Amino acid sequence: MYSMSELKTNVGNVTLKNPILLASGTCGVAAREFEPYFNLSELGGVVTKSLSIKPRDGNPTPRVVEIPGCGMLNSIGLQNPGIESFVKNELPYLVEKNATIIINIVGEIMDDYVNAVDFIKARNEITAIELNLSCPNVSGGLDFSQDPKKAFSLVSEIKKITGIPIWAKLSPNVTNITDIVKACVDAGSDGVSLINTVLGLAINRWTKKPTLPRATGGYSGPAIKPIALRMIWETHKKFPKIPIIGIGGIHTTDDAIEFLLCGASCVQIGTANFVNPKISIEIINGLKDYCEKNKLSSISELIGQAHDVSKTFVKV
Ligand code: DHB
Repeated sequence: MYSMSELKTNVGNVTLKNPILLASGTCGVAAREFEPYFNLSELGGVVTKSLSIKPRDGNPTPRVVEIPGCGMLNSIGLQNPGIESFVKNELPYLVEKNATIIINIVGEIMDDYVNAVDFIKARNEITAIELNLSCPNVSGGLDFSQDPKKAFSLVSEIKKITGIPIWAKLSPNVTNITDIVKACVDAGSDGVSLINTVLGLAINRWTKKPTLPRATGGYSGPAIKPIALRMIWETHKKFPKIPIIGIGGIHTTDDAIEFLLCGASCVQIGTANFVNPKISIEIINGLKDYCEKNKLSSISELIGQAHDVSKTFVKV
């Protein structure tokens, strides 16, 4: 039997106990909803809901549309209690549960991000800061991840004020993802989270109107996996040293393995949590099995292997 340590993975300078994290916005604000199912300390990490300098009520309802078999569209509108309230009321919970904590930060303008990061910039209980440069559901939400110059200046400003590793979470709604990745890494981003949701739309044929109040929403779930894999593939091929946090439609152990093979150092589970809240633990166990069957001494041996055509592995 291999022990948990074989699942350890490095994301730049950050060592995670395994490569499975809960994705932002899919586990409440601070994953309290998962208390009945497993201990948060069993995960590679927990990514909080995007936190802003001021509390936000979010968008009008309905906010979610299921696309059966394919995933879902959402338009939450960044509902969150604000960073100050989070630090006071939620952060202690995550610390008490021994979770590996990644704080996701969002803003409308540069100062919003800087001021929010100010609340957490020196806290050593935080493993990484994920910058949400790519919310599709508020006006201007995609600006920072669609313009390399804006991405560069935002990441640079955050880098100046904190020593905590920074992961820039980028949008797939761009022509060339590697241009944005390069800007973030040049600015000092310690990793890139790929991908956020894909812009989509649902129509209600009875009202003859878009189902979501802002018309468009963020599309997530199994249907976006090939898009995520393609963007991770392109990024790893061009910048093999840049740590990638893979996200996008991961529902099974096989999916997670495919992301690692493509070049992700760890992955986040999002939409699948709504189908099965225990899925992360099931995937962690599946990865252990896969390591045993393939006699891997470390899961990290898989990272980027899809780019090396000389190696093959057996199925789980
Ligand atoms: C929100 C929705 C998303 O799909 C996303 O990727 C980021 C944020 C939101 O509306 O809060």
